[in-house]
Amino acid sequence: MSDLTYGKQTNRNNLMDPNMSGDELVFFVNGKKIIEKHPDPEMTLLTYLRRKLVLTGSKLGCAEGGCGACTVMLSKYQPHLRRVLHHSVNGCLAPLCSLHHCAVTTVEGIGSVAGKLHPVQERIAKSHGSQCGFCTPGIVMSMYALLRNNPTPCMADIEEAFQGNLCRCTGYRPILEGYKTFTKERRCCGGKGKENGCCMTNGDKTNMYTDEHAYRTSVLPAPLYDPADFQPLDPTQEIIFPPELMSLGKGQSSPQLRFRGERVLWLQPASLEQLLDLKTQYPNAKMVVGNTEVGIEMKFKNLLYPVILAPAYIPELNTVQHTDEGIVFGASCSLTLLGDVLKAAVGKLPPHQTEVFAAVLEQLRWFAGLQIRNVAAIGGNIMTASPISDLNPVFMAAGCKLTLMSKGGERVVVMDEKFFPGYRRTILTPEEVLLCVLIPYTKKGQYFAAYKQSPRREDDISIVTSGMSVTFAEGSSVVKHLALSYGGMAATTVLAKNTASRLLGKQWKEELLQDACSSLAEEMTLHPSAPGGMVTYRRTLTLSLFYKFYLTVQQKLASEGVYKDVVRADYISATEIYHHKSPSSVQIFQAVPDGQKEEDVVGRPMMHLSAMKQATGEAVYCDDIPLYENELYLCLITSTKAHAHILSIDTSEAESMPGVVSCVFAKDIPGSNMTGPAVYDETVLADDMVTCVGHIIGAVVADTQAHAQRAAKAVRITYQELQPVIVTIQDAITHQSFFQPVRTIQRGDLDQGFTQADHILEGEMHMGGQEHFYLETNVTVAVPKGEDGEMELFVSTQSATKTQSLVAKALGVPASRVVVRVKRMGGGFGGKESRSTTLSTVVAVAAYRLKRPVRCMLDRDEDMLVTGGRHPFYGRYKVGFMKSGKVVALEVTYYNNAGNSMDLSLSIMERALFHMENSYSIANIRGRGYMCKTHLPSNTAFRGFGGPQGMLIAESWMSDVALSLRLPAEQVRRLNMYSQGERTPYSQILDHITLDRCWDECLEISQVNQRRAGIEQYNRKHRWTKRGLAVVPTKFGISYTALFLNLSAGALVHIYTDGSVLLTHGGTEMGQGLHTKMVQVASRTLGIPGSKIHITETSTNTVPNTSPTAASASSDLNGAAVHNACEILLHRLEPYKTKNPNGSWEDWVRAAYFDRVSLSANGFYKTPDLGYDFETNTGRPFNYFTYGVACSEVEIDCLTGSHKNIHTSIVMDVGNSLNPALDIGQVEGGFMQGVGLYTLEELKYSPQGYLFTRGPGMYKIPAFGDIPTDLTVSLLRDAPNDKAIFSSKAVGEPPLFLAASVFFAIKDAITAARKESGLSGPFRLDSPATPERIRNTCEDRFTKLCPPAEPGTFTPWAVVV
Ligand SMILES: Cc1cc2nc3c(=O)[nH]c(=O)nc-3n(C[C@H](O)[C@H](O)[C@H](O)COP(=O)(O)OP(=O)(O)OC[C@H]3O[C@@H](n4cnc5c(N)ncnc54)[C@H](O)[C@@H]3O)c2cc1C
Ligand code: FES
Ligand code: FES
Repeated sequence: MSDLTYGKQTNRNNLMDPNMSGDELVFFVNGKKIIEKHPDPEMTLLTYLRRKLVLTGSKLGCAEGGCGACTVMLSKYQPHLRRVLHHSVNGCLAPLCSLHHCAVTTVEGIGSVAGKLHPVQERIAKSHGSQCGFCTPGIVMSMYALLRNNPTPCMADIEEAFQGNLCRCTGYRPILEGYKTFTKERRCCGGKGKENGCCMTNGDKTNMYTDEHAYRTSVLPAPLYDPADFQPLDPTQEIIFPPELMSLGKGQSSPQLRFRGERVLWLQPASLEQLLDLKTQYPNAKMVVGNTEVGIEMKFKNLLYPVILAPAYIPELNTVQHTDEGIVFGASCSLTLLGDVLKAAVGKLPPHQTEVFAAVLEQLRWFAGLQIRNVAAIGGNIMTASPISDLNPVFMAAGCKLTLMSKGGERVVVMDEKFFPGYRRTILTPEEVLLCVLIPYTKKGQYFAAYKQSPRREDDISIVTSGMSVTFAEGSSVVKHLALSYGGMAATTVLAKNTASRLLGKQWKEELLQDACSSLAEEMTLHPSAPGGMVTYRRTLTLSLFYKFYLTVQQKLASEGVYKDVVRADYISATEIYHHKSPSSVQIFQAVPDGQKEEDVVGRPMMHLSAMKQATGEAVYCDDIPLYENELYLCLITSTKAHAHILSIDTSEAESMPGVVSCVFAKDIPGSNMTGPAVYDETVLADDMVTCVGHIIGAVVADTQAHAQRAAKAVRITYQELQPVIVTIQDAITHQSFFQPVRTIQRGDLDQGFTQADHILEGEMHMGGQEHFYLETNVTVAVPKGEDGEMELFVSTQSATKTQSLVAKALGVPASRVVVRVKRMGGGFGGKESRSTTLSTVVAVAAYRLKRPVRCMLDRDEDMLVTGGRHPFYGRYKVGFMKSGKVVALEVTYYNNAGNSMDLSLSIMERALFHMENSYSIANIRGRGYMCKTHLPSNTAFRGFGGPQGMLIAESWMSDVALSLRLPAEQVRRLNMYSQGERTPYSQILDHITLDRCWDECLEISQVNQRRAGIEQYNRKHRWTKRGLAVVPTKFGISYTALFLNLSAGALVHIYTDGSVLLTHGGTEMGQGLHTKMVQVASRTLGIPGSKIHITETSTNTVPNTSPTAASASSDLNGAAVHNACEILLHRLEPYKTKNPNGSWEDWVRAAYFDRVSLSANGFYKTPDLGYDFETNTGRPFNYFTYGVACSEVEIDCLTGSHKNIHTSIVMDVGNSLNPALDIGQVEGGFMQGVGLYTLEELKYSPQGYLFTRGPGMYKIPAFGDIPTDLTVSLLRDAPNDKAIFSSKAVGEPPLFLAASVFFAIKDAITAARKESGLSGPFRLDSPATPERIRNTCEDRFTKLCPPAEPGTFTPWAVVV
């Protein structure tokens, strides 16, 4: 045996012997051989990389394969193909033990800042595709894996590669743009263009702008980056597959292996025979191939499988055979392989034979992301027996044959409804395995289609999924055989057998359609309380999808001459499958003035200072800090009841578990248990009462994360449940459960306004909340310093000072003993403004008590459970308006769902009220706001801070006014828009207003009139798809509405004797580029290059008493403080400059130093003239306003409720942009977060306050495919703002609301659909405009057959909170 076998491995008998010791696991990481003597079958590759190899570039974002932050490349020699296959995979799901003889490449393995960046890393950084950077390594590795397989991809390949990656910051556009330079279409020469420039800019600027708008605007701006700077891609330079593995792979089949962990035995048989032996010996053993299902069960459902069988490399389970009947796939074949083989067959065989194959391919297109498809097996999908499997309905309708095998023999079964006897059960006996699947050819006269409807198109699980097959008697349209199979309509995949048999022998005509629909409506019923909810929608979908099939088949029959009537032209779009058009974009900004010095970087599109490090994985986030030697890990214990007394807590089992050191409860808090950002109305740890599911009761501290998490699950708590359980806003209204005060803003004479109005209408709207979904969850590392109660905390927080003070309060020590340090966050968006402090406090208490460093990074599900999100709002309004559309009176009442504590709910409600009129001038107005106290986790700050809620409801009544008057909404909005010098309801005079300029430019860029005409024409020609358009303005007030927070911006600047500058300020970096902007400010003020200035971190011992980094105002506040500090230093250096005018910066610094001048200065800034009094309606709440306008066009599918974002133009006034690249990044990122808020993201709670949506599997944020196909962002030119640093404006929050243009474009399209059913006038559309809401609102003959159950007659699965 050569050394290539790497140590000992078991023989066949050893594998069967439960007492034998384990094997060594051998694999390569970044070209380095790893021999792991004791691999733990429960450990994932990601944990191993991060903890064991300290390769922290790969990130943990969700642990469930849903975000892609952990993406690495896996390479393996495939003997049957005689080549190495490279695949992107999710490190968080790949079991460590599955990696024997594989090569893993991580982001660290392909390039580094210190060495050389890989072009994939360089281009994402330079194209501004990295903001917080937490998603960046995963995106880099998806792209890298693609290029390893295909160095000249097209855009569709890139989009496919990113289906499994999420980014919460950038809005995706810059990533796609940057990587477009790798494509065949847009390949960059790497600086070898004409005159040694880039082929994309040199001589042919038009290449940069695929879009016609760039020409229309006639100002071709400077690009945000220059592709000429990009290194060319040289595939010959990639790290090679380890030769040792190559020769090993060529030499022998995969070995049998045994790995034994603390609780789990992993057995990898080498042959089918061995597998069947083992399955007889361990009938309850779990088979694992891709682990994309089992991994989730173990992690999130707390299931333990003591014996795992890994059959991934058994030849019989991996073969593909073409037979007379169809293609047979071994059960372990990956979905990627399945797709490749079927694609080839569809290309080769006559179309009538491949109808099923084409349907499987259509399902695979939307099946998870590529990382999952690369490892997930066809057998795994079947055997999971999920009722929402995407493949099983297709296999069932197609009558696929499954070969099952055990030691006792083999049997072949047809997949029909008997195959799934119950929820997640199959007919296999425990000793049996699934050997292979036959997917049959279709025959002449047979038609097949598959449908999947999910909340998000890409990488999402189905709501309803379906496979449909019809066979006609030869040469006729008489149904001979029909199979309609549905997923999502029962506990298993089901066949609509009654409907099918009822339609046999009938002609494929309208009468059949009517029969089919009424029969399906009867047969595919769901109890109104059915798990998953959306009952009316799901029922309607069974009909709508059949209707699509009906039309598709009719069309095919017509094209074959069987059916005489052609399908109506306006119905054809219902039969079309979704075609994705690659997005194109334009960014317009003002170049710096002529004459601005080259080294003055203010106003230039400078790259985020950490972008390179983020792209290489070298940027250090909180959980990347190496483990301290004696460090412990903490896991929270949280309540499972929404409202209850805690009767007892039993930790005995938990405390006896391996590695557990201690449990921490309220009694262990040395100082005060009361906490809260504004008022101390919540506990750090619940004492005797819990008031929400997820209420933190205590924590387990253990030696490792796995031990702490297992023990936390073993803590037994008994409760006495209390009534009432108030979950929704409506519950709170019923119980009058409100926090005080109730806020009112009023101006003018409401009665008089309503009297004067020609019309009055009333309406209401609910707007759902939103999960922050920062890619990096909350994390704290607390390190006790061993003396005087000192504690150092490394925290991912927007509020260093708040964390410091609340930790000190809980520890009972002065704030001076606690240092909070924030290097960077992997996103914040308001979610780490106040809610992060609770976790930090608990971790600090544990560290204080145990006198050891303690760490906790919340798992995604914990983070979503405990930290709250954006406040759901409900608004009722009464609006008085004239025939012209001019609004003269408005009365609006807001209710927000605050949750179980005040947190920042009052300020959020105030901001909603401050934005209740959005951008419209209304003479008589009254807004009132109630904060509902409910049994949900406290809701909190989120980008926009109440503004997006207040303004959405404003646009709802604005849309109602236009609809009721049958006037174009643009006309009504424009008519009501503020003009220069008008007063807001809170009496602030609007000066330097640029709304009208933004509006006009937006209309021009988007060519609204032509677009509107095009839409009307489209809608006339299409019955089942409709387009809509909306133009929406925003006016966003800048400043914290809590006055004291506007006071405290500080900066500390040190100049060292070598001339280098260390800059510290009060703001934190969460991806928005604040540190980059601050360096730009310091660079201009000091007159030195930015490269001489460094920012290490934000810390409470350098700049004290800081405001949270929030309210979009951080650049304004901290920029002014930095400016102030730099001016002080400049003043001190002035004499040395004067004395030596030709000297260098270093000369002056040294001279000053030797002259004993302090080279360190503090800067400070407070916003002048602020303060508003609600009692008297006087004073100024805002320093100034940021304005913007967006126009969006969408297309909806009236039958499924899906929509496409076709076009968006945004014009944003950000003053004189400090950095157009960062500002456009904020505009696009904010806009896409708003698209999520208003069209996609839905938190689902049970009526008992239990949150179902606890991860990317169920909670969908926008993905790459959701960006508008055509996106233009323009920063308004010549609009300096004298109220902020260097005439800039705040930009972080204002653009988010502009996504309301998409919401109202959808509403516009629904209006067109309703018109087809004779419906007109205002109608209610709540936010988000999900497929469910869109479909239900597009009322038609199908919705009528599925009426909703009478409210109050059932308990719904989920409630609108
Ligand atoms: C992020 C994410 C997205 C997903 N998206 C989708 C989606 O869009 N549509 C969808 O339908 N599913 C989806 N899934 C579910 C899952 O990916 C699929 O079901 C997948 O096909 C499972 O394959 P696997 O090899 O990973 O299974 P594993 O987790 O390895 O195994 C799954 C089950 O199959 C059993 N099994 C495997 N092979 C055999 C065999 N030969 N004989 C007997 N039993 C066997 C295992 O014991 C286990 O019970 C998603 C999962 C994730 C994590
Ligand atoms: S951490 Fe692996 S996909 Fe999210
Ligand atoms: S940059 Fe993508 S999540 Fe922050």
